[in-house]
Amino acid sequence: MGKKRVGILTGGGDCPGLNAVIRGVTKTAINHYGMEVIGFHDGFQGLIEGRFTIISYEMASGILTQGGTILGTSNKANPFAHIQTINDKVQKVDVSDNCMELYEDLALEALICVGGDGTMSIAGGLAKKGANIVGVPKTIDKDIMETDITFGFDSARNTASLAIDQLHTTAQSHHRVMLVEVMGRNAGWLALESGIAGGGDVILIPEIPYDINEVIAFVRKRTRFGKRFSIVVVAEGARPLGGEQVYQKIVQDSPDPVRLGGISHIIANQIEDETDIECRVTIIGHLQRGGTPTPFDRLLATQFAVKAMEMVAGKQFNQMVAYKGAEMVPVPLEKVMNKQRLVPKNSPLIQVAKAVGTNLGAPMH
Ligand code: F6P
Repeated sequence: MGKKRVGILTGGGDCPGLNAVIRGVTKTAINHYGMEVIGFHDGFQGLIEGRFTIISYEMASGILTQGGTILGTSNKANPFAHIQTINDKVQKVDVSDNCMELYEDLALEALICVGGDGTMSIAGGLAKKGANIVGVPKTIDKDIMETDITFGFDSARNTASLAIDQLHTTAQSHHRVMLVEVMGRNAGWLALESGIAGGGDVILIPEIPYDINEVIAFVRKRTRFGKRFSIVVVAEGARPLGGEQVYQKIVQDSPDPVRLGGISHIIANQIEDETDIECRVTIIGHLQRGGTPTPFDRLLATQFAVKAMEMVAGKQFNQMVAYKGAEMVPVPLEKVMNKQRLVPKNSPLIQVAKAVGTNLGAPMH
């Protein structure tokens, strides 16, 4: 009999730490369980199209510190709604049965799906069709339910904080208001945490719709007190009281088609018009998804990987590895699918930001 096999794929938007998971899974599978690892290319696209490779020990070596994913990823591929052109018409076709056939043909013990909420939802669908799934939570947005943290977040927070630090000096020199827009989709974790770490004067997150008059009054007050510059950290999903989020584009064939971005330009114009203080906007965008993972993310990704393999070996299927209270624990995929973990109104981080005098676009007390 041949070796037992486990499959792995990385789905959704990439982030630092994906390669650390691939390495951790492969090394643990080979060293500890004598198993072979099959890696699917470009997330669920590889499963749909039968594109995969055996990940050798050598392939998994030397990739711990590399950003991105050696397997590639896709945030469009979905076996339950695969885009196909049939008779010149673009249609969404359910090809999940074909994926299950490949899964059976390859005689996989389990499929490890590394991704965000979209990936977990698709993985949950395959679990219902009989696949043995183990999920690993990845995203710079930190918006996956049931886990305190996701890998990739710390690296992105680092990049965003660094950007805020760099903008401080030029803001001071020119006496300007500098707006820095960070990613995070509908969750404000990245803006809130990098904003606190970078000493942002104003932090605007989607969970607290902002009143532009509060922001303007705060900037004016800083000027009166001799602070002739301000740093405004804006989550891409921030929205004004009674208003809407700003869409940068709609990606039609994506399971989550909205791409947010650009709200900081609107805020900058409003501040400039009302205060006569010059404003500049920096949207750091995909810089937050690139580069080498921080040591924290490497450690977290490796812990997730080893736990995922332990769950495969222990047949703890259709669960996601979660990091809860400094422990790695399995949680049912059902609890994670189609949900978002947002910043709660009573988050201790919000209290911390307020305590140090940060304006959150709402009355201070
Ligand atoms: O979910 C991760 C993320 O980087 C979000 O923060 C952002 O809104 C989105 O993906 C950007 O997606 P894309 O890479 O398709 O532009």
